[in-house]
Amino acid sequence: MTNTDSSIVLVTGGNAGIGFHVSQQLARAGARVVLGSRDPARGAAAAAQLTDDGLEVDTIALDVTDDATIAAAAKHIADTYGRLDALVNNAAIVGEGLPPSQASRAEMLATFDTNVAGVVALTNALLPSLRASGRPRILNVSSELGSTRLVNDPDWPHSDVAAAAYQASKAALDMLTVMYAKELAVEGIPVLSVSPGYRKTGLSRGAPTPGAGDPAEGAAGIVALALADEVPTGQFLSDQGELVAW
Ligand SMILES: NC(=O)c1ccc[n+]([C@@H]2O[C@H](COP(=O)([O-])OP(=O)(O)OC[C@H]3O[C@@H](n4cnc5c(N)ncnc54)[C@H](OP(=O)(O)O)[C@@H]3O)[C@@H](O)[C@H]2O)c1
Repeated sequence: MTNTDSSIVLVTGGNAGIGFHVSQQLARAGARVVLGSRDPARGAAAAAQLTDDGLEVDTIALDVTDDATIAAAAKHIADTYGRLDALVNNAAIVGEGLPPSQASRAEMLATFDTNVAGVVALTNALLPSLRASGRPRILNVSSELGSTRLVNDPDWPHSDVAAAAYQASKAALDMLTVMYAKELAVEGIPVLSVSPGYRKTGLSRGAPTPGAGDPAEGAAGIVALALADEVPTGQFLSDQGELVAW
């Protein structure tokens, strides 16, 4: 499956929620989507739904906590396409959603493994394919819940949410965005944090704040950044393309 005229984009956690909508919208826009799913059956179900929509995606098994599937995904992309134009680090877990005084070591480690270490391991494995692209970029799907400034603002509507493992993992992800952006600037590889906004998905189910929006709308901002001719680097952008306070 090759199409050197269209962007090649890997979306982790592409089988559900925002990742599914990102994959769908990218495919509709003509991109070659490599849809990563940790569970092959869920990946196949997502691909079937897209096929019903007249869209074709390249579905791969990819668990960001599993180095073997990361290596296989990197090899598949290098062998099949020879480059990667955009990496969308979307996959994440929320953990148990407990405040810091109740969080366990197990919850912290599992959440950081997926949301932080998984991003580093996958990104590093894909750097050779990103370097082979004429317009590479790395998009880390983050959350305003990881912003120390917003969480510390009593007027921010979500400032009472207390999901320590998740929120600390997104703050760590944002630091990685800044550090990767600085390191990769010399190679012309932009790195951004991007938030889809508060959306109704499996991850937000049970969240205390009402008003979660349509995940398709949250995906649109990520898709725009994946396909734009040029993007900034080292910033945290909302789904509207506005700067978010770190
Ligand atoms: N929903 C919101 O309000 C909101 C707000 C801000 C930011 N975000 C961010 O948006 C992104 C997508 O979240 P979502 O709301 O769409 O959540 P979701 O519906 O729960 O989807 C999460 C996706 O990540 C996958 N995943 C989890 N662990 C994985 C692993 N180890 N390897 C590979 N894939 C894995 C899930 O796979 P399974 O289906 O197998 O579980 C699923 O496909 C996340 O980064 C999240 O932090 C969401």
